[in-house]
Amino acid sequence: MTNIIDNFQLIDHPLLKRDMTILRNKNTEPESFRAAVKRIATILAVETSKEISMTNIEIETPLEKTIGFELNQDVVLVPVLRAGLGMVSGFLGVIPEAKVGHIGLQRDETTLLPTEYYYKTPKNLEKSKVILLDPMLATGGSAAEALNYLKKRGALDIVFVCLVASPIGVQKVLTMHPNVKIIAAAYDRELNEKGYILPGLGDAGDRTFGTL
Ligand code: PRP
Ligand code: URA
Repeated sequence: MTNIIDNFQLIDHPLLKRDMTILRNKNTEPESFRAAVKRIATILAVETSKEISMTNIEIETPLEKTIGFELNQDVVLVPVLRAGLGMVSGFLGVIPEAKVGHIGLQRDETTLLPTEYYYKTPKNLEKSKVILLDPMLATGGSAAEALNYLKKRGALDIVFVCLVASPIGVQKVLTMHPNVKIIAAAYDRELNEKGYILPGLGDAGDRTFGTL
């Protein structure tokens, strides 16, 4: 049986620390916020793609034949609307052949429960590596629900990538989805009474799109 902690990977990188500081700073404007999210997503994409399945192909250099490599499975990025959208371009920069699906989820501010308002993903999810993108893993309700939807549509090989994870969110997702791996750039202390991550970075969707 898998130890659930084995499925949580916190990425340690000096540039992630620099960019997380930019995101956490309440004075950072949306333009700089989006740019930092994109840089963080690029580093996380490199880490996430280490487990993509590859196959050998024969090619010719200008000098001779040799063996090269290409992706052996489709990669599907699935940002959770809205805030997950900010992570897409960093991932596409590293995996340009990826397809992109979307899940629209919004937390009810009182119950903190997510409700779905949009769903569209490519066909053949069962054969793809599916990378679910959402910057915030707070109560874990949104991620757990998004993973339910992806599994109902056939996804089998799923990684969830976030910027900031909370202890309770990690516990919830890995308990409900023990076969899903979580990759995060930061692991924060706790949630406040409104379900916001502390120290966190505030409302990721509002800070990305300037809707505060
Ligand atoms: C935020 C965030 C996650 C969710 C995390 O979205 O992007 O989807 O909250 O919280 P949870 O782990 O407690 O479910 P929000 O509902 O604020 O929507 P938005 O992206 O449209 O702002
Ligand atoms: N959603 C956010 O955008 N931020 C949090 O801290 C928690 C949930």
